[in-house]
Amino acid sequence: MDSRGKSIVLIGMMGAGKSSVGRWLQRRAGLDLFDLDKTVAKRFGLTIPEIFEKFGEEKFREAETEALRAFTPEKPTIVVTGGGTILRNENVDLLKRLGFIIWLQADEGTLFERASRRGNRPLLRTENPRKRMEELLSERIPLYERAADFRVDTSTMKQDEVADWILKRIEECAVT
Ligand code: S3P
Repeated sequence: MDSRGKSIVLIGMMGAGKSSVGRWLQRRAGLDLFDLDKTVAKRFGLTIPEIFEKFGEEKFREAETEALRAFTPEKPTIVVTGGGTILRNENVDLLKRLGFIIWLQADEGTLFERASRRGNRPLLRTENPRKRMEELLSERIPLYERAADFRVDTSTMKQDEVADWILKRIEECAVT
């Protein structure tokens, strides 16, 4: 991993399971957890949908980048990003410095079903959220692909299984 850190960074679309897998990783590996969405929400004192509504997506994206710039952990941490964090090259560079980047994938139907469950995704608050999901996904797949060190398909796996798979894979990388 050379000059890169030893944190574990989770990227992927809304509904990929980043937050839940992040919490499992935290429990299993006993590391701290940094959740980018939560950090941004806390900074505004608002929920993510409220931030989008009051300030718009661009301000949210700016706050995401600022939070990442300010995040300089002293020890390895589980880092949970938002689905669109990889949209900015600067964010990807900042994440790469932290450690392994893992892309949590799932098929489009699964992502949509999971992401629309709680109605808390501002980008899906459109007339045709399914179509929006499809558009976002095809625009972002190349970006996830480019940023990730490795990927895992979470469509049929339980969250704790995904976490265990990730830890095993990282261990293998460390010994080879
Ligand atoms: C977003 C995903 C959300 C949140 C915001 C924007 C996106 O995070 O950052 O609603 O652009 O895909 P999750 O991936 O945790 O839903």
